[in-house]
Amino acid sequence: MEFKNLLIDTTDGVTTLTINSPRTLNALNSALLHELECALYGLNLDVDVKAVVITGAGEKAFVAGADIKEMSTMSAYEGHQFGLTGQRVMLLIEKMTKPVIAAVNGYALGGGLELALACDFIYASNRARLGFPEVTLGIMPGFGGTQNLARLIGPNRANEMIFTGKMIDGTKALAWGIVNELFPPEELLAKARECAATMAGVGSVGLAYAKNAIANGLNMTKEDGFRYEASLFGVLFATEDQKEGMGAFVEKRKAEFKGK
Ligand code: CAA
Repeated sequence: MEFKNLLIDTTDGVTTLTINSPRTLNALNSALLHELECALYGLNLDVDVKAVVITGAGEKAFVAGADIKEMSTMSAYEGHQFGLTGQRVMLLIEKMTKPVIAAVNGYALGGGLELALACDFIYASNRARLGFPEVTLGIMPGFGGTQNLARLIGPNRANEMIFTGKMIDGTKALAWGIVNELFPPEELLAKARECAATMAGVGSVGLAYAKNAIANGLNMTKEDGFRYEASLFGVLFATEDQKEGMGAFVEKRKAEFKGK
């Protein structure tokens, strides 16, 4: 499939997926969501892709939200379907077997912040502005934001952000645990790619299982989570990556993982 609104580059196992609609600050309309869904589905199946960085084109925005012009004329049914489509994209990222970093290079608002929150973690420019302005538009976050933000930073801070619609800066986002690290704008993408390259070099089956254990374990009791972790941990001893990783350590050489 040819993408009109996405740029995709894969180098040495690291894919950079750029939302490329800077004229509208990379706002997510239906066509763009459809492209994102197809692209992410493909990247998850592509064995040459080991880690993904998602960012926005231009200097101003990561993604300034869902497309307000498109939403302004939607019926309740269309709004529901649009929300479900956005949620499907977010869940696709969460279920990918590869790590996904959001490189938030500017505004991450509404659906844009929801996209960043769906990623495994967020690196941001120190000029980033994050927020959920939906209540100022007479709606509420609809691409998983109420669920993901409250789980990440707790209900009190999530309530404040979602009920006021006010943006926060990178420093506060870092202090609140939304963002893992802040960088000068010109360094952000390189730092995100560097981290992605580190993750691209490890045993990808172990990483995929760890991602699965963390995500699914959050919805279990601690005891069930421990049991689930133990079963995945055990399965890894049947992989070539485990033999290679531990063999390389014992033989004092660099492991050459095959991802199987
Ligand atoms: N949807 C559609 N178009 C958008 C947009 C959006 N979310 N955000 C920006 N744009 C467009 C603007 O309309 C403008 O287009 P025109 O030149 O054709 O008028 C262009 O992008 C540039 O934007 P501005 O001129 O507004 O730029 P600015 O620097 O003055 O302001 C901003 C930047 C503060 C981010 C401002 O654009 C803004 O407030 N955008 C809307 C943010 C928002 O409310 N997002 C939440 C959307 S609702 C949502 O996402 C629901 C959900 O949970 C799924």
